[in-house]
Amino acid sequence: MAKIVAGIGTSHTPAIGAAVDNGRTAEPYWVPLFAGYEPSKRWMAETAPDVAIVVYNDHVNAFDFKIIPTFGLGCAAEFPIADEGWGPRPVPPVVGYPELAAHMVQSLVLDEFDMTIVNEMQLDHGLTVPLTLLYGQPAAWPVRVIPLSVNVVQYPAPTGHRCYALGKAIKKAVESWHEDLKVVIFGTGGMSHQIQGPRAGLINTKFDTAFLDGLVNDPERLASIPPLTYLRDAGAEAIELVMWLIMRGALGPRAREVRRFYHVPASSTAVGHIVLEAVDGGMRTPGAKAKPRAPRVTTKAKTRLQRS
Ligand code: DHB
Ligand code: FE
Repeated sequence: MAKIVAGIGTSHTPAIGAAVDNGRTAEPYWVPLFAGYEPSKRWMAETAPDVAIVVYNDHVNAFDFKIIPTFGLGCAAEFPIADEGWGPRPVPPVVGYPELAAHMVQSLVLDEFDMTIVNEMQLDHGLTVPLTLLYGQPAAWPVRVIPLSVNVVQYPAPTGHRCYALGKAIKKAVESWHEDLKVVIFGTGGMSHQIQGPRAGLINTKFDTAFLDGLVNDPERLASIPPLTYLRDAGAEAIELVMWLIMRGALGPRAREVRRFYHVPASSTAVGHIVLEAVDGGMRTPGAKAKPRAPRVTTKAKTRLQRS
């Protein structure tokens, strides 16, 4: 059985990718940010997942305004890197997993999530920056990637509630795959940021902190936040955070926080990052104790044990 062992939330600010690509990570502006990701890079190297499902949003690179899927699942064998105006980032192409992606589409559609099947897709900073933050600059990405693109660019974006439910269905889809695979899921984008207009540069640390706390302990409450609340309280682009709820839904009811990092600013973004491990494979129901109970020993069995 394939299993989702952990979720990673991270911002995907394009300036972070540019800093890495142009050798500027040692500049004082960037040092604290990259230092904050070092323990997570080590965690990723130790965890060594076979597959990463990366929930991200395209920024009018793979999809222009002609076609905008609300949920598009990348089913290709390989995904080229998009040219976002300064040439494609100098990162390796992303290798997909068409068989598992096709299985996920089938499982999700049968569970009444009407996914768009995307057989050709270029990937922009929304996906490549999170890979860079967690894997650095390898010659080839050491993981197969299933991209899940979510429309948060053109109104209306899906609700947090729908995203959380999709995450739960993704968990079911992955667990019904026959191969033994270690899978992680990324939720990318956010945290608070507004790129344009009179409110450009808006940061709401209180909102971000409450979101990170809720992600660990109370995802159901986060899932009830209406889309417009993100925009009003945390900036127009904070709506990207609904993608973190897909990640959280895919971990099951209980998750353990193993790493958190928050840094302001990178470009105009409040950078947030969290690593959550699924508790007991996320199979437990809400309210269940994290520790497994000792097996109950019957009187008969006790007698047998005493005799032997
Ligand atoms: C910025 C952040 C984003 O999430 C994005 O997609 C583009 C730009 C920024 O803060 O500059
Ligand atoms: Fe973005």
